[in-house]
Amino acid sequence: MTCAWSCLPVSSRMALQEGHQPHSLPKGCCEQTQCQHTFVKLAATYSKVNLGQGFPDFPAPDFLTEAFTRALGGGNHMLHQYTRAFGHPPLVKVLAQFFEKLLGRDVDPMTNVMVTVGAYQALFCCFQALVDEGDEVIIIEPFFDCYEPMVKMAGGTPVFVPLRPNPPKDGKLMSSADWQLDPAELASKFSERTKAIVLNSPNNPLGKVFSRGELGLIAELCVKHDVLCISDEVYEWLVYDGKQHIRIAGTQRLTTFLLLSWPQVGWVVGPNRLLQHLRTVHQNSVYHCATIAQEAVAQGFQRELMLYGKPESYFVQLPKELQQKRDWLVQSLDGVGMKPIIPEGTYFLVADISQFKSDVPEVPNSDEPYDYRFAKWMVKNKGLAAIPLSAFYSEAHKNNYTNFIRFCFAKEEATLKAANDILQKWKQEKTSS
Ligand SMILES: Cc1ncc(COP(=O)(O)O)c(C=O)c1O
Repeated sequence: MTCAWSCLPVSSRMALQEGHQPHSLPKGCCEQTQCQHTFVKLAATYSKVNLGQGFPDFPAPDFLTEAFTRALGGGNHMLHQYTRAFGHPPLVKVLAQFFEKLLGRDVDPMTNVMVTVGAYQALFCCFQALVDEGDEVIIIEPFFDCYEPMVKMAGGTPVFVPLRPNPPKDGKLMSSADWQLDPAELASKFSERTKAIVLNSPNNPLGKVFSRGELGLIAELCVKHDVLCISDEVYEWLVYDGKQHIRIAGTQRLTTFLLLSWPQVGWVVGPNRLLQHLRTVHQNSVYHCATIAQEAVAQGFQRELMLYGKPESYFVQLPKELQQKRDWLVQSLDGVGMKPIIPEGTYFLVADISQFKSDVPEVPNSDEPYDYRFAKWMVKNKGLAAIPLSAFYSEAHKNNYTNFIRFCFAKEEATLKAANDILQKWKQEKTSS
């Protein structure tokens, strides 16, 4: 990697060399994860249509399932054994080739890429390896729920900064692009205790794709304060309306990790001086990710490398299919007055439910936020599952964002049609009552 990737603050390097103490989970650490569990259980019990949890209900592409079958049943019995702990050589080699193209910089397969069990484990390795007692980590809200507990488990303190909604004045539907950072507020969160900032673009849950200007601002502050950028880009290929996903590592010479994943196989791309610490965590926790899965994903990437930028590429076809699904759900929700915030990326869509307050009974003596009450009531009474948006906020800020719920639209056409039927019936009931 270029030397510009190696501005590791000394304290993080020492964290692992001097022995990281295990931390018990601070109070409140698991609340968001708890919320996900609650809503997964409610969806399993009551939902006819589950647009809550973020998983596609359509099959993986044939070329990938065929690669898995070949790896499993082919003649190479060594694929049933351990491979290199930090990444199966064919996979790290093809990932390095791929990311050299995407980032426009050299990527060494053995030292700049590490394979993990999904992006989840990549995140865990980053926080455990690099965050030390007393360090602050800036998290942009709304955020993927594991960032906060993972920072706390490492002994760090999360510092939250929200994306602030600016509704368009012309009565148009809001876009995820209308949710923006306040530059002065962001700058005020950086201090001498800041170790890292977590960036997630495209963002779960909003679908926001950060612009070059926004990334430039974050990068400038990282360079100024010598802060790491942990860039979670798991939805990098899911960007719509001709928008471009910009990789912060490709825009600026700053210390950045890219975290990505494909079917439960994830990877981190970053400078060796930092990755060496992640390798220590990985080696002494999970050690290794299933060889067969890595082999299959390597073959998938070899195909994608050959088809790079061509219409047949899966990374070109998938966003086209998902954009259509997004548009169907936007139409369904808009039709019943549940105002959708049009996502520029990901397969999530947040909708404004403030017009539905009269549908949901008040619960006496309860301080449960409206979005939680609404999502519970909707799944029990209408059979449609979604997740309350305030679950993606810190305790201090969640009460400001209780008028929204999140849907997942990575679903078969029939599932989205069934959701539309529920919404249309609901609308008829509302108008006739
Ligand atoms: C923003 C974000 N990061 C990371 C992950 C975890 O990815 P994986 O399933 O590869 O572990 C998810 C999964 O939903 C996510 O939404």
